[in-house]
Amino acid sequence: QESKSLKSEILGIIAPSFPAFLDELHCKYKNLGDGAIADYIPELSKVNPDLFSICVATVDGEVYQVGDFNRLFTIQSMSKVFAYGLALEDHGRDYVLTRVGVEPTGDAFNAIILDEQSKRPYNPMVNAGAIATTSLIKGKGATERLNRMLDMYRRYVGKDVYVDMSVFTSERSTGHRNRAMAHLMLNFGMIDGHIEEALDLYFQQCAVMVSCRDLAVMAAALANKGVNPITGEQAVDSRYVKDILSVMYTCGMYNFAGEWAYKIGIPAKSGVSGGIIAVVPGKMGIAVFSPLLDSRGNSVRGVKVCEELSQKFGLHMF
Ligand code: DON
Repeated sequence: QESKSLKSEILGIIAPSFPAFLDELHCKYKNLGDGAIADYIPELSKVNPDLFSICVATVDGEVYQVGDFNRLFTIQSMSKVFAYGLALEDHGRDYVLTRVGVEPTGDAFNAIILDEQSKRPYNPMVNAGAIATTSLIKGKGATERLNRMLDMYRRYVGKDVYVDMSVFTSERSTGHRNRAMAHLMLNFGMIDGHIEEALDLYFQQCAVMVSCRDLAVMAAALANKGVNPITGEQAVDSRYVKDILSVMYTCGMYNFAGEWAYKIGIPAKSGVSGGIIAVVPGKMGIAVFSPLLDSRGNSVRGVKVCEELSQKFGLHMF
């Protein structure tokens, strides 16, 4: 009875106009050429700028998709959401809070700043905070930590995922800014000794390959109290879903987070490969992939599509 009413509630929002509206959005924005491809990681600059897909996965396991939805690309900063969940599972909320704050920065994702007083990075969604978060992942050695990270992704996606070695090595050999942040945090005791290993794991977690469809399912798991709606597997402890969604809501879109919360009104996270994931709690996960980015590192088409979806279906939380 309960699942029946849940289903009709979700369908009430989305059907019957939903799939047609996704097609319409795809048509409307597919020729929009605004924005630029991220090129500070050399391998990322090789992507085709025309790629574009929109996927929505509901908490009852329906998936709606349009465009290049099976095309694989690296997850980049969207990984920060999932790594934060794993760190919370490994250490609990109180300890994680001593190492990474939950305040939005209003600064760019790669800003080299720590909280004046506590010396913590501001939040787990910017690079400094994400590196500190990843350094908390437990495991006996680098391989076990990577395998635990990959297994976490497997639970969210519903199948094995792999690291793109070219993107990983490209970022490892050019990521001096991230390396500088790790050294700064080591200096303040915010991360422990093995920073090269922590950075490698961070670069690997960012270089995991996913499709737009995979991302929608991952977002839907967060909408579904941490349970993958297709496999039924618990991807992350339900206790931590509200922590994850709260920092996504306030910090997930970097120096656009306030405007995003104001206009679109749902927790979201972007990545420089051109993906955006958004979560409508209790209802659905949304993913958009389009590699052309605005000046803050958010996908131009991705922001527009989410804005229209939010308006059309009343997804804003308030
Ligand atoms: O650390 C970096 O620069 C990348 N691996 C991830 C950055 C990213 O996706 C920021 N997003 N907008």
